[in-house]
Amino acid sequence: MSIKYNEDSRIFELDTDNTSYRIGIADKEGFVGHIYYGQRIRSQKCDQFLRTWEGPFVPSENNRERCSFMDTFPVEYAGNGVGDYRESCIAVKNVNGSRTVDLTYKSHDIISGKPEIKGLPASFAGDEPVQTLVLHLTDKGVGIDVDLLYSVFEKEDVITRSVKVTNAGKTDVKLTKVYSACVDMDDEEFEMLTLHGSWARERQIERRKIAYGKQSVSSLRGESSHQDHPFMAWMTKNADQNTGDVYGMHFVYSGNFIAQIEKSQFDSIRAVMGIHSEGFEWLLTPGEEFDAPEVVLTYSHEGLGQMTRNLHDFYRNHMIRSRYLHTKRPVLINNWEATYFDFDTDKLLAIAKSAAEHGIEMLVMDDGWFGHRNDDATSLGDWFVNENKIKGGLKYLVDEVNKLGLKFGIWMEPEMISPDSELYRKHPDWALAVPERTATLSRNQYVLDLSRKEIRDYVYECVYNIISSANIAYVKWDMNRQLTDIGSTCFAGDRQGELMHRYVLGVYELQERLTKDFPDLLLENCSGGGARFDPGMLYYSPQIWCSDDTDAIERLSIQEGTELIYPLSTIGAHVSDCPNHTVGRTTPFMTRAHVALAGTFGYELDITKISDEERAMIPEQVVLYHKYNDLVREGDYYRIASYRENGEYDCYMVVAKDKSEALVTYVQVKGRPNVHSRKVKLSGLLADVDYRLEDTNEIYGGDLLMNAGMFMENMRGDYMSRLYHFVLDNTLT
Ligand code: DGJ
Repeated sequence: MSIKYNEDSRIFELDTDNTSYRIGIADKEGFVGHIYYGQRIRSQKCDQFLRTWEGPFVPSENNRERCSFMDTFPVEYAGNGVGDYRESCIAVKNVNGSRTVDLTYKSHDIISGKPEIKGLPASFAGDEPVQTLVLHLTDKGVGIDVDLLYSVFEKEDVITRSVKVTNAGKTDVKLTKVYSACVDMDDEEFEMLTLHGSWARERQIERRKIAYGKQSVSSLRGESSHQDHPFMAWMTKNADQNTGDVYGMHFVYSGNFIAQIEKSQFDSIRAVMGIHSEGFEWLLTPGEEFDAPEVVLTYSHEGLGQMTRNLHDFYRNHMIRSRYLHTKRPVLINNWEATYFDFDTDKLLAIAKSAAEHGIEMLVMDDGWFGHRNDDATSLGDWFVNENKIKGGLKYLVDEVNKLGLKFGIWMEPEMISPDSELYRKHPDWALAVPERTATLSRNQYVLDLSRKEIRDYVYECVYNIISSANIAYVKWDMNRQLTDIGSTCFAGDRQGELMHRYVLGVYELQERLTKDFPDLLLENCSGGGARFDPGMLYYSPQIWCSDDTDAIERLSIQEGTELIYPLSTIGAHVSDCPNHTVGRTTPFMTRAHVALAGTFGYELDITKISDEERAMIPEQVVLYHKYNDLVREGDYYRIASYRENGEYDCYMVVAKDKSEALVTYVQVKGRPNVHSRKVKLSGLLADVDYRLEDTNEIYGGDLLMNAGMFMENMRGDYMSRLYHFVLDNTLT
């Protein structure tokens, strides 16, 4: 049993294999407080950490200092406006104009399993015996009930949290803020880690000291965004890959968010995560409920590396539903960087033919096959095949590609509408816009108002018809702009604050329908590169395009930040042509492949135009993919060295769960003159057995590799790379 309630001490004990979380109920009034989160501890009385014995006393004994109590008490979910001046988790607009929320304990349930969250992506129990604690809190004054849900995933050391708000009163209530989780604890000179970025520079790791006051990352762009990521960790100073206490908090949501840590006057911290409250309002009529999205919490006593492995296992075991999760994905060739909009059936078939001859397994036709789209200025919304380009039609093209032995995949951007489209001319009101204001264009396009059912139905019908019209094995679902002009003709003026969230719910509904109707379809999400790479989208697609930057060296830091929290099996990574289209850098063809092998692997180039020498290397690279992908997809990831930190080289490895093999990827970004070979210490191996380095047959003890290290080949030149594959030697030492 992972959850227990001790009636005497009024303490809830939540335990995973290696971590414990303790919640206590304080005072007659039933304040719900946070006692402890960290390394696993025994069951015991520990309510002293609620500090109710310290002055100012609890309100029932010393109501004179109620405000001081409220401002100090470590809460599980912070109310609003009644004395706790740290960040609140919930806010309302009541009929009487009041905005305060004061939540206290009403009752609780401990249930088996992991409840779904209606309309939202959320983790599931799978084969594990998960238990869930539902704490029922209430504010009688406002007439709302707030349920805090905690599900305990023992094996992965994860606790998920979510919140349900119910209007239990007789009058309407408007929610103006509903966060999903709050963690209060004493500061231990923690540092905060977040992932920032931009187009072509997604998920760059940043660390900072937690200072007094608030520090946050957020998105108001209607998607999780290139710029900030719905993730944060806080950790003891100098925590590294292997040591230190690390807390990770990750939001299962694809829209506006905030992730914030506040350090208080009394040196405690409050970490909160949820839908961003700016512009958010949600009407709850009596009896109605609002579900706030899920937060994934994990704690590691063994540094960032263990946090990474907890999250990788958690997403693989409890978030990704696709039947492709545990299978090799077809090695694909995508024509975006090969042709951009300039292609037709003949060109695609020429690429497919050569691809088939070199072992590639799927052709993906990217943007530009529909309406009259020859650039990015037109036709989004007109999902009709352009037969001037796709001569003979889509089915003919797909059949011909299939005849060559390749599967076929297609690109779509269903959420968008071009002003120059039949759809816009017919339904100008279908684009998000504010009355009396010209909406803001981005990449020449507007966003469809997915809060409206008839628009979602139209969009879905278009996607459905295209996929059903030919043997389509894969869809790349793109989204190339962020939301602006938040206006919908569907809702009354005073409900426009619901639109951002309703939009995200609309996207989820569409993808739910798609994955239900086409369970064999391989779906890859994408957003101008990796602007909607988040756990919410992973619920629908087992892989997400990581970045439009396909340069092998830029990818080192982009993939490092992505791998910090996402399994390698989810990371869309391709070999592209050089000079690289984004940064103009030329790197060896093999290095590009070695870096892309840490993801789903594919090509993004015109195979008919690259040099004979490079083309001839493709079959060898495809063999590497088939040889290593089971290990890369399912194994444990260890970050050994970071080019982002050292400016010279990158090194990471994947170790099989049973420790029988390991693949080390080493990228020597800069060649160095007149130096000894570089030595790195490996991780995650068994210490007391021997491993054989496959290509040289040399034998190394696991203990030696991890403690003394191994020498990396000193290669001549910049941007060089090498893979080292270790297999268990049969002889035990
Ligand atoms: C952005 C994607 O990230 C690219 O791979 C490509 O599909 C373009 N959109 C097409 O418009």
